[in-house]
Amino acid sequence: MDETLTRADATKVLRRLRELLRPYRGQIALATLLLVSQTACLLAGPALVRYGIDSGLGPGDGGALNTAAIVYLVIAFVGAYLGRLVILMVARVGETFLRDLRERVFRHLLSLGLDFFEREKTGRLVARMTSDIEALQELVSVGLVMFVQNALIFVGAIVVIFLLSWQLALFVLVVVPPVVIASRWFRRESNRAYLEVRDRIGQNLATLQEGLAGVRVVQAFGREPAVTRRFRGTNEAQYDAHLETVRISARYFPFVEFSGVFGTALIIGIGGWFVNRDIVTVGTVAAFVLYLNNLFEPVQQLSQLYNLVQQSGAALQKLFELLDTRSSITERPGAVDLPDEGPLQVEHVTFGYGDGEPVLHDVTLPVAPGERLALVGPTGAGKSTLAKLIARFYDPREGRVRFGGVDLRDATLRSLRRRIVVVPQEGFLFAGTVRDNIRFGWAEATDAEIDDAISALGLTERFDALIDGLDTEVRERGSRLSAGERQLVSLTRAALADPTLLVLDEATSNLDPGTERTVEQALERLMEGRTVVVIAHRLSTAERADRIAVVDEGRLAELGTHEELLGREGCYASLYAAWMAAPAATG
Ligand SMILES: Nc1ncnc2c1ncn2[C@@H]1O[C@H](COP(=O)(O)OP(=O)(O)OP(=O)(O)O)[C@@H](O)[C@H]1O
Ligand SMILES: [Mg+2]
Repeated sequence: MDETLTRADATKVLRRLRELLRPYRGQIALATLLLVSQTACLLAGPALVRYGIDSGLGPGDGGALNTAAIVYLVIAFVGAYLGRLVILMVARVGETFLRDLRERVFRHLLSLGLDFFEREKTGRLVARMTSDIEALQELVSVGLVMFVQNALIFVGAIVVIFLLSWQLALFVLVVVPPVVIASRWFRRESNRAYLEVRDRIGQNLATLQEGLAGVRVVQAFGREPAVTRRFRGTNEAQYDAHLETVRISARYFPFVEFSGVFGTALIIGIGGWFVNRDIVTVGTVAAFVLYLNNLFEPVQQLSQLYNLVQQSGAALQKLFELLDTRSSITERPGAVDLPDEGPLQVEHVTFGYGDGEPVLHDVTLPVAPGERLALVGPTGAGKSTLAKLIARFYDPREGRVRFGGVDLRDATLRSLRRRIVVVPQEGFLFAGTVRDNIRFGWAEATDAEIDDAISALGLTERFDALIDGLDTEVRERGSRLSAGERQLVSLTRAALADPTLLVLDEATSNLDPGTERTVEQALERLMEGRTVVVIAHRLSTAERADRIAVVDEGRLAELGTHEELLGREGCYASLYAAWMAAPAATG
């Protein structure tokens, strides 16, 4: 798993991060200053103990002892208060940054071309928004402060002990390297083990999910033992992975603890010897014992936090990569608005997905204003692909698509989406009311305009019949509406958008005859007075069109009226024969 960054990548991520954090510069500087002050307070403690022992206890000076105690108390309090301020400040800056980042990523995702979404799995994109941002969340909430603070304490403690007594400090340095080495080992191993745990949990969850989702099939075939065995396998693997992390910790933490005790013993022993020779004072030795804590703890903490910092870096890199993805469909500088009306001209269009083989070859298809053209053809012929090109969800590899004489690539995206509207096979419904979903077609529409659009399609009664009329909640993806009702919402949405050119992918789902008729009538009214390209799956739709284009293996095979094509006894005639033979599909 790619959870760590190379040095070069890390530099890039940091540079980018610095740019993004520029607006928060002042607050970050202030937080750093507070953090340094807080660390100074922490490090002052043992030095005060030294003063208390050497100037108070030793000579029996009660005043000096009191001073040391009181100052210690005050400084500890100030330190705690500063710590509170820092945590709040960093969290506020961090959360603001993350909030803006989430929105930026979401906005960017919505701007990307269809090809991006066909390439990327939705699950992975959601992971970007959840687990990647979560890693950052943990970092900004406490991790970052702790990381910086521990680093400061570590460096600060080393500086201070050398200032107090370089001779004794040299002995401390004997104990530190093994701990640092052990910590590096721990960091590496625990990261590996942690990733393994995450993997295993994922696999175990997948088995669980599959077993539950398929419970009917499992029971129907009496396969419970086999499925349980499979679960036992992944469950065991998860157990092993967890134990491995414990084994690593069980080696590291006792070692560090032992090193601490050993260090203390060493300092007391050597320190005592130094005291006898008047090289250091008793207070200094006491301070050293206390400072040892300030060396060992940060090393432990840092080795744990380091992984979090690494993961956050990797998460940021992935998010930046996403933000750097350019949409394939962009508006070129100096783009013009599409005219209100005009012919649609598909000219010598060749197209393939990605780097793949072409799925459309040299298609030329003129559609006059107000004409209704039906696209028919076998499955996989390229009908939907052609529709996507007509609405500029993709750009052709060769040739061009023009509307009103303007190449779609030269048109402003706003005018393009206004003039040309695609009604997909299954219109997506969003959480909200039926009215909200209809308004999706034209956000500025008033309630009266929505009512007009509904009555224009002759659907007033149909929508009134819903439980709460237009205020009926459709629930997730319209689960509360029937398939037919969902189609009606989708058509009304298009009517409200009021495009000049309507591209329809006829729904293939079978509706009951009554609903079917309502949908067909609404569709008929929606198409009135517009240029329409309809991908026809029903004979009736094809028959009613002005002209029919037969697409076969990515080529325009035939073009003409229903009668003309029947007379030609080619592709269309055989499709027609098939339709006639399958009464259910003739609608
Ligand atoms: N996103 C895609 N990436 C790669 N290939 C695709 C993609 N979408 C469609 N294709 C391929 O392009 C060809 C044409 O597909 P298209 O969806 O245009 O067919 P269609 O005529 O609409 O078929 P249907 O009647 O089944 O809807 C098919 O071979 C299909 O496999
Ligand atoms: Mg299709």
